[in-house]
Amino acid sequence: MTTSAEPVRPGPLAARSVVHPPVPPAPRMLRLPGVYRPQEDTALLASAIAELTIPAGAHALDLCTGTGAQAITLARRGAGTVLAVDLSRRALASARLNALIRQLAVRPCRGGLARALREGPFDVVVANPPYVPSPAPTVRSTRGWDAGPDGRALLDPLCAAAGTLLRPGGTMLLVQSAMADVDKSREQLAAQGLRTSVVQRARIPFGPVLSGRTEFLEAAGLIEPGQRMEELVVLRADR
Ligand SMILES: C[S@@+](CC[C@H](N)C(=O)[O-])C[C@H]1O[C@@H](n2cnc3c(N)ncnc32)[C@H](O)[C@@H]1O
Repeated sequence: MTTSAEPVRPGPLAARSVVHPPVPPAPRMLRLPGVYRPQEDTALLASAIAELTIPAGAHALDLCTGTGAQAITLARRGAGTVLAVDLSRRALASARLNALIRQLAVRPCRGGLARALREGPFDVVVANPPYVPSPAPTVRSTRGWDAGPDGRALLDPLCAAAGTLLRPGGTMLLVQSAMADVDKSREQLAAQGLRTSVVQRARIPFGPVLSGRTEFLEAAGLIEPGQRMEELVVLRADR
């Protein structure tokens, strides 16, 4: 995080040279103050979207859109309608601007999972939700990344709802940290009859947020003692 008012993900862009495998540069986006800055997880999910076959005219959802980076990738890849959902008004204004200057059709929509469920089902769902385990309650300034003591505050309801969010034949791509229990996500998705696979992985160094809570993470058993690298994973789920 560059300043306390800059909600960026824990992975520092400056340390990209030690990312394994190398993650492409995060997309450059306009961003109102307080909106999550695109970074390694953004780029990893965008890479997975770029490799997905998107049916022409697909109805697509970018849940937790932030600057709209994933929604824009979906629109560029030929999705027919792209819904960009976020709790933050500033995020939605940023997403609207970013789509407008690229002349792409993206519909910003304020809300969370319940709103997405009302707008579904979808052919394609992508999400970069908050997934960082946190010892403290989530507040507005940290809601771009903090996700409760196990990092699953949004992952659990999202994985549990994936079968309802997707049309038959639909696909979801979801990025998360390995410390927020990838196996649990896969089990929750499989319990709804979805086929799951890991389509992208990258190891990145801890940034300021994770570095500032290593004691909590070690005590909670979420990282090994002395661990200072994080693994990011993109999960694919097919209905
Ligand atoms: C990790 S950022 C991802 C931003 C962007 N999709 C990207 O890949 O760079 C998470 C976003 O989720 C939003 N958010 C947090 N909790 C949410 C919720 N319950 N429902 C919808 N959006 C939420 C935050 O405002 C933030 O913009």
